[in-house]
Amino acid sequence: MSDKIKIIAIIGAGSMGKRIAIKAAAYNYDVHLYDIDYASLQKFIKSRKNQIKATNSLGEITSYYSIDDAVTKTDLIIEAIPEKLDLKLEIFNQIDKVAPHHAIIATNSSSFPVSKLEDAVKRKDKVLNIHFYIGAGEYALTEMADIMKGTMTSNETFEIGKNWIESIELRPLVVKKESYGFVYNRIWRAIKKECLKVWAEGYADLKDIDAAWKITTKMSDGPFMIMDKIGLDVVYDIEMSYFQHSGNPDDKPPQALKDMIDKGILGLKTREGFYKH
Ligand SMILES: NC(=O)c1ccc[n+]([C@@H]2O[C@H](COP(=O)([O-])OP(=O)(O)OC[C@H]3O[C@@H](n4cnc5c(N)ncnc54)[C@H](O)[C@@H]3O)[C@@H](O)[C@H]2O)c1
Repeated sequence: MSDKIKIIAIIGAGSMGKRIAIKAAAYNYDVHLYDIDYASLQKFIKSRKNQIKATNSLGEITSYYSIDDAVTKTDLIIEAIPEKLDLKLEIFNQIDKVAPHHAIIATNSSSFPVSKLEDAVKRKDKVLNIHFYIGAGEYALTEMADIMKGTMTSNETFEIGKNWIESIELRPLVVKKESYGFVYNRIWRAIKKECLKVWAEGYADLKDIDAAWKITTKMSDGPFMIMDKIGLDVVYDIEMSYFQHSGNPDDKPPQALKDMIDKGILGLKTREGFYKH
């Protein structure tokens, strides 16, 4: 366990927030969870109670009605709300006002460097990108996390964050200078972008693309199955963020993806995405 971090708050208990909470609790950290969708948060906490009995989990996961209550008395706050810059700025600002002075604020954003959020807080030396990767199981994380500084993040904050990632047995992927997409997410993004183009422009069936990927990498899922698991709305927002950053029309996600989202076809969470689930 980290000697500097004992209690964690996670703001946004969607697909990633829940996974991060479960991972941290498994390593003895108490987790305060907040989501605007309190009903769905409660449902998760209830189902989790049965799971704790089955798995002997160590840390406690507690739900909160307000961000303010969730973040007071914490050492690390991880923001995991949707990939919308304005929303993240608002939440960073709110957290900064109420979190203890020593607490570190991290974003799980898939694309935005924390330097884009640091103007929303006074504690500019205590902000980080800690970017987790979705895993194969229902609540799984892949065994790695990117970690990146903002323009004023202190070395001490960085070391505390890195030690905490190691304490939950994830491999820290250290980003040495600011990178849009961090380390592996940037590489995955290049793959995802090309896959979407090959499919949307009618060059190949997505099943063949996934098959090719699985044959060459020996991975169990192809890129389209992975995108279904991530959530097509989440994928779209991330692709739009890259597009807005570069301004390059080639980076714009295909309309065919947007059409699916508009029809409510969001991947595994709606039981239909590129595949039926
Ligand atoms: N899905 C992935 O594979 C993945 C991987 C790494 C990082 N991320 C990033 O993590 C973040 C969350 O992604 P996700 O997949 O968990 O999305 P999600 O849509 O599953 O969850 C987002 C949650 O945030 C909640 N929310 C919305 N506005 C809120 C607010 N103002 N305050 C509190 N909660 C609020 C929603 O109710 C929802 O439960 C995004 O920045 C995304 O880019 C996603």
